[in-house]
Amino acid sequence: MAPSSQLRVLSGMRPTGALHLGHLVGALENWIPLQETHDCYYVIVDWHALTTDYADTTAIRDHARQIALDWLAAGIDPARSAVFVQSTVKEHAELHLLLSMIVPLPWLERVPTYKEQQEQLRDRDLNTYGFLGYPLLQAADILVYRADVVPVGEDQVPHLELCREVARRFNHLYGPLFPEPQAKLTPSPRLLGTDGRKMSKSYGNAIYLRDLPGVVESKVDSYLTDPQRTHRRIPGNPEICPVFAGHRIFSTSEQVGWADAGCRTAAIGCRDCKAVFRQNLVSRLEPIAERRAGWESNPDQLDRVLSEGTEKARATASATLARVRAAMRIG
Ligand code: TRP
Ligand code: SF4
Repeated sequence: MAPSSQLRVLSGMRPTGALHLGHLVGALENWIPLQETHDCYYVIVDWHALTTDYADTTAIRDHARQIALDWLAAGIDPARSAVFVQSTVKEHAELHLLLSMIVPLPWLERVPTYKEQQEQLRDRDLNTYGFLGYPLLQAADILVYRADVVPVGEDQVPHLELCREVARRFNHLYGPLFPEPQAKLTPSPRLLGTDGRKMSKSYGNAIYLRDLPGVVESKVDSYLTDPQRTHRRIPGNPEICPVFAGHRIFSTSEQVGWADAGCRTAAIGCRDCKAVFRQNLVSRLEPIAERRAGWESNPDQLDRVLSEGTEKARATASATLARVRAAMRIG
């Protein structure tokens, strides 16, 4: 159990399915070291999945388990961090409801992701109460633990800002209760997928944490390179090469220097360059695969982790709710 003097961390992911290298370098590698110094809560937000996927909920449970397994495999340590599924801690819903009474509609309407997502997912009807409330539910996720620190990517900054505004409004109306949580931005390195676009499940260009070495190998083979470099003897430009962007994240500085100079002078070929990249990916994924195998061999253990996570989360969340009800003189 973490000593109570530690600052509290909360972060979450939607259950979208297996995690890829983008999640590893964009989130998990920020979450894992925080476990050393902070009291951490990591939540799989299945209610948030409903805001966009309410019409077909068949995959949500399975995806939630996959994510839990990927977290544990990557090094989230359930002995130190609470790992749980949002819908198992009903206090998130109660706080969301109470906060919905005080949040002005324009605050929600002006969150940039609201209109953006509606436009991106035009095939779905996202003119719902729940979808508009997405960032408020996220605020409830954070405030229900009175979290101090929220490790997230840049894209979540507007949601954090709304959360802080809601906390201030609550404190102003009912007396000080919520700390204003700080975003801890992941220095987001530019990880590109095999086709040169941002690595994403929906582009089909991702390398997954669960990919076996053979799969990693064929994905690296298929990686886009500098398209001008059509022959081994033609020098290339690493700055526009997705493989080189990958070296910057997964290779040593000597290797980055080697790839950079070798590419520009045609001293190396793309095949040599990719071989080093592939080896570094495989070595990075190896301990993750080992830990995964341990968890997979005992599925009951995953259930236990999640229910212990729920217990710990509930204890903290219900203490907050008791204070919230008292402050609001309700319930
Ligand atoms: N909105 C976040 C995302 O899309 C997921 C999320 C939900 C979250 N609740 C949270 C992240 C609370 C941090 C804290 O990635
Ligand atoms: Fe990219 Fe490496 Fe080929 Fe240069 S040598 S184009 S950096 S893969």
